[in-house]
Amino acid sequence: MKRVRVRLRALEDRSYPICIGAGILHRLPRELARLCPAARYAVVTDARVARLYGRALRRDLRRRGLHADLIAFPAGERYKTRRTKERVEDALVRLGHGRDSAILALGGGVVGDLAGFVAATYQRGIPYVQIPTTLLAMLDASVGGKTAIDHPAGKNLIGAFHQPRAVWADVSVLRTLPARQLRSGLAEAVKHAAVADLGLLKFLDRRGADLRALSPRALERLVERNCRIKAAVVMRDERESGFRQILNFGHTVAHALETAAGYRLLHGEAVAIGMAVEATLSERLGGLSAGGRDRLLCLLESLGLPGRLPRRLDPRRVLAATYTDKKARLGRPLYALPRRLGHPPAWNGRPVRPVEDRQVLQALRDLLS
Ligand SMILES: NC(=O)c1ccc[n+]([C@@H]2O[C@H](COP(=O)([O-])OP(=O)(O)OC[C@H]3O[C@@H](n4cnc5c(N)ncnc54)[C@H](O)[C@@H]3O)[C@@H](O)[C@H]2O)c1
Ligand SMILES: [Zn+2]
Repeated sequence: MKRVRVRLRALEDRSYPICIGAGILHRLPRELARLCPAARYAVVTDARVARLYGRALRRDLRRRGLHADLIAFPAGERYKTRRTKERVEDALVRLGHGRDSAILALGGGVVGDLAGFVAATYQRGIPYVQIPTTLLAMLDASVGGKTAIDHPAGKNLIGAFHQPRAVWADVSVLRTLPARQLRSGLAEAVKHAAVADLGLLKFLDRRGADLRALSPRALERLVERNCRIKAAVVMRDERESGFRQILNFGHTVAHALETAAGYRLLHGEAVAIGMAVEATLSERLGGLSAGGRDRLLCLLESLGLPGRLPRRLDPRRVLAATYTDKKARLGRPLYALPRRLGHPPAWNGRPVRPVEDRQVLQALRDLLS
C-alpha cells in the first residue's frame, strides 16, 4: 500500500493520510478506530455504489462490532443538490446520529462533495472519511477538503472547506467503473501534469494504454503521483486564496460548459474540452508555445478524451455561463493558463488572469465540432 500525507497544521493539526492500494477496501473497518474513531458510522453513497460496494462495507463494519448505517441517494451529478443534502440529513436524524458519529463517503466525486458538505454542517461539523470509487475522485476530488453542492445557476455554488480524517483509495473497485468514467478521471490527471509535473505528462504518454486496461500497478502509481501533487498544492494554500488556483486550469470553461450543456458532459470531459480551449487562449496570449498546446491536445486525444465543443452548443451561451462561475471575482471570470507545460501558471506573479470576451469567444469558435 502507498501512502501520501496531507499536512495541515494551521490553528489545529488536521493532517491526514491518503492510503492507496489494490484490494484494500475490506481492511478499512479494522483501521477505522485509528483513522477516524466514532461511536457510529453512516456510509453515505449513491444507489449504484451501494449495490456494488456499500452493502458489503456495512456488513464488514458490523462484523467488527461497529454501528453502521447505509444512506444512499440516486447516482449522478443531477442529484448533487440541496434537496439530496436535506434527505441525507433527515436520514441521519432519523437514524439517531449525533456529534459522535462519522460519515464514510463512499463513491465518486458527487458523493464525496455532497457527503463531505453534509459532514461539514451536520451538528456543526462531524468527521468523515473519503472512500473514492471513481478514478476522478481518487486522484482529485477526495483530497483537499473542498465540499459542495450545485445550484441551478452554477456548479458548486454552495459548499464549505472541510478536510476528511483520511482518504482510503482501493484501485480494484475501478474494475466495475464504465470506461467513459475512467477516461473522464484521466482528464484531471492531465490537468495536474500540465500545471505541475512534466514527468507525469510523460507517464501519461507512456502508460495511457496500461491505465485504460486497468493495470493495478499503473493505476496505483497514477493515483499516488496525483495525490502528491494535489496534497502539495493544498498544503501551500488550503483555502484557495492564491496558489491553489493553478488547479483551475480548464475549469473556467469546463464549469461553463457543464452549466450550458445541462450535464450531458461528464465533469472530466468538460475539463478536457476546457483545457483545449484554455490552452488555445494561452497560446494566443503569448503563453504556451504552439508545440506545447498541440502536445496537450494530442495527449487528450490519445486518452480518448474530447478536445472540441459539443455540436450545437452556442459559444455565446458558454461565454455567458463563465460569468456565473463563483471564481468570477468582481464579475470578471479568471483563467489559470499554463505558460509552459508542467509549470504552474503565472501571469504578473499571479496564477490567474482575466481574458477579453472576444478572445474567449474566438477560442470557443475555433474548437467547435
Ligand atoms: N472537491 C473537489 O476538489 C473536486 C474535484 C474534482 C471534481 N469534483 C466533483 O466531482 C464530481 C464528479 O465526480 P465523478 O466523476 O466521480 O462522478 P460521480 O460521482 O457521479 O460518479 C460517476 C458514476 O460512476 C458510478 N460509480 C462510482 N464508482 C463506481 C465503481 N467503482 N464502479 C461502477 N460505477 C461506479 C456512480 O454511481 C456514478 O453513476 C463533480 O461534481 C465535480 O464537481 C470535486
Ligand atoms: Zn475538476
